Amino acid sequence: MEIEIVSIESADLKPVPKEFGFGNVFANRMFSQHYSPDKGWHNAKIGPYEPFSLYPATAVLHYAQEIFEGTKAYRRPDGNINLFRPWENMKRFNNSARRMAMPAVDEESHLEAILQLIAIEHEWVPDAPGSLYIRPAMIASDPALGVHASDTYIHFVILGPVGSYFKEGFNPVPVYISDTYRRAVIGGTGDAKTGGNYAASLFVGEEAKTKGYSQVLWLDAIEGRYVEEVGAMNICFVYEGKKLVTPPLSGSILPGITRNSVLRMAADLGYEVAEEPVDVQEMLAGVQSGKVSEVFGCGTAAVIAPVGKFGYKDEEHVINNYDVGPVAQRLYQELTDIQFGRKEDPYGWTQMIEVK
Ligand code: PLP
Ligand code: COI
Repeated sequence: MEIEIVSIESADLKPVPKEFGFGNVFANRMFSQHYSPDKGWHNAKIGPYEPFSLYPATAVLHYAQEIFEGTKAYRRPDGNINLFRPWENMKRFNNSARRMAMPAVDEESHLEAILQLIAIEHEWVPDAPGSLYIRPAMIASDPALGVHASDTYIHFVILGPVGSYFKEGFNPVPVYISDTYRRAVIGGTGDAKTGGNYAASLFVGEEAKTKGYSQVLWLDAIEGRYVEEVGAMNICFVYEGKKLVTPPLSGSILPGITRNSVLRMAADLGYEVAEEPVDVQEMLAGVQSGKVSEVFGCGTAAVIAPVGKFGYKDEEHVINNYDVGPVAQRLYQELTDIQFGRKEDPYGWTQMIEVK
């Protein structure tokens, strides 16, 4: 892929801010390219981070034909930059594209575009514990209201420095279990990273917030019995400090890259690991008795996020005295040490970008 690099006047470049939250500050440049059936992907460029010009009839604004990804760049102690398993994000992007009837992007070219963008914007990668969040996305751009797959698309990648996703930082978060509403069903789009899944979760997310919870844990849509995942992360349960269990990839949850990494690292650290269905009532009884010794979420934005309590049917279930447990602590350390290049990566998960 030939990428045009559009120059920006230095007076138009924003300085890198010292303070940022999650997802509200963006680097000066973005990558974009367009798709049409006759030209395929074309007009690849790295240019200013700026608004798109879209007609009000644009398909994505009405029928949500959209996909996205989330990965991060980490500042290593030697000043260079690590990406963490980015090729998995490229693969998942195309899986999501397929499910949403969108054209595939060449995975190598997609990663190359990200590498070039970060090489130019390397100053935007903050020092640990912050990181640079990378958000690739694709939207349907036909200006037409018929309900069918668009002919044209825009693929873009934006970047921004981020801190902790949760206001709690690496401290336990309160999680609400929805007993009425469902997020995804097998055969639906739950295993694709598409905006509609998140839009459908917002109503319950707001309800959870009014009750004092940060996130929603979703149950399966058929029986409302089995645990699926949290709004922005997969979920893991620790039994008696020894066994780590996460729900299987049923087709209705996102196949998380952090989830996959946690399973591998936990096994190598000597924990028993299993992907098996988690019955919500049994799990809550386990929390009550102490058999479930820890619960934590895992995801790119969330990293490892200990869960302090569950709210379910107006009852509170406090986990591990609302403390960070040793398994979450150990996995957080192990994972972030590899991501930030503080220890050797035994898995070949990191890709280094040399800063010259
Ligand atoms: N589940 C959902 C719904 C998510 O949005 C995310 C975040 O990407 C995850 C799980 C975790 O996936 P990953 O570890 O690949 O970031
Ligand atoms: C991520 O972890 O990258 C996500 O996409 C989660 C969220 C910010 C939607």
